Amino acid sequence: ADGRIRLCGTDEVDQGGMLRVEPPGMDPVLLCRTADGFHAVDDECTHAIASLSEGRLEGTTVFCPLHGGSFDICTGKARSLPCKQALRTWAVAVDGDGVWLLAK
Ligand code: FES
Repeated sequence: ADGRIRLCGTDEVDQGGMLRVEPPGMDPVLLCRTADGFHAVDDECTHAIASLSEGRLEGTTVFCPLHGGSFDICTGKARSLPCKQALRTWAVAVDGDGVWLLAK
């Protein structure tokens, strides 16, 4: 798809918070709000089957709830084992009161 997809309202995610969004026809997306804004990555851990939205966000690092591996949500890169493979990252933009995923 091209164009953009509205993920949520800016007031739906607190700073330091995360939200799982399931855009139609796409894999679930994890939207994170950090001190410098919104970041989006795939929500499914690359190690096994787990939703990162059920884990913990510390700064720009998300920890998987299943085995505790972690990822940098800005680059998608794995930060600690057992995670090795990077998460796919998504460009997001704030427009008005909404947070949008820029489809690629
Ligand atoms: Fe995420 Fe294993 S499923 S660390």
